Amino acid sequence: MTADGKTRSRPVARVVDAKSLKEGGGFPVRRPFPVAGFSFFDPFLLLDEMGPVDWPPNAAIGAPPHPHRGFETVTYLLDGAMQHRDSGGHAGDLNPGDVQWMTAGAGVVHSELPHPDFQKTGGRMHGFQLWVNLPAAEKMIAPRYQDIPASEIPKACSADGKVEVTVIAGECLGEKAVIDTRIPITYLHLCIHPGGGIEQPLSVGHNAVAYVFDGRLLVGEAKTSVVSGQAALLGDGDRVRLAVSENADGPAQLLLLAGPPLNEPVARHGPFVMNTAAEIEQAIIDYRDGRLGGSID
Ligand code: FE2
Repeated sequence: MTADGKTRSRPVARVVDAKSLKEGGGFPVRRPFPVAGFSFFDPFLLLDEMGPVDWPPNAAIGAPPHPHRGFETVTYLLDGAMQHRDSGGHAGDLNPGDVQWMTAGAGVVHSELPHPDFQKTGGRMHGFQLWVNLPAAEKMIAPRYQDIPASEIPKACSADGKVEVTVIAGECLGEKAVIDTRIPITYLHLCIHPGGGIEQPLSVGHNAVAYVFDGRLLVGEAKTSVVSGQAALLGDGDRVRLAVSENADGPAQLLLLAGPPLNEPVARHGPFVMNTAAEIEQAIIDYRDGRLGGSID
């Protein structure tokens, strides 16, 4: 129930246009946040749609070695192949449909690059990176990786076949995610075909956003139109209605994200997200002095 004691379907509170820019070594992203005037969406700090971009052979660009401290990065690949390596010796490949949920905690230095085989052939790269903040008490925990192959990520389909979902975190259509999150996060990839719709439960009080990356989505009882490259921030309520018009040209695809606001101060500087300026200064010193890790061999 909401604060007034009633159940309510969430309306659209605000629609944000993603900004197109270059990230890492120079690969193109669409970023709904952070952008000017919208710095974060507690507990989410950043959402990047990487590509889609069709790379010729030997041209793909990734993110060379860089540090992180104080939050989690979640990479979900739709097309292409990436290779992740860190200074602690952890390495893993990401293929289409795979998810890496990395809890940076006290700190890692890692690289996120096109897989060498993909680099040779070129091809389409498309995926997402989400940054999830950690509560102050957990910012300095030991780093942890959850590398989940596509085959282990729950998927479901509505009875009429018009709504397909990949459940990365949380629950949808009776399927429960296998990834373990520090705070209760919902992270769903939904594909809704023309004439399809879903009423997705969402915890009251959680911040929630639908980022559309293909087609046109109708959000809420008011059927607010949200198109590819737009994020709809939802008002409060215990559920959201998502649908696609019967006469739409094709399906809409979106990420539905929700989580409890941490309501803690956020001090961020590039790849470090802490609570105070002093903690950021310490992170910079620790990185400089090699305490987040050294070179990646
Ligand atoms: Fe990174």
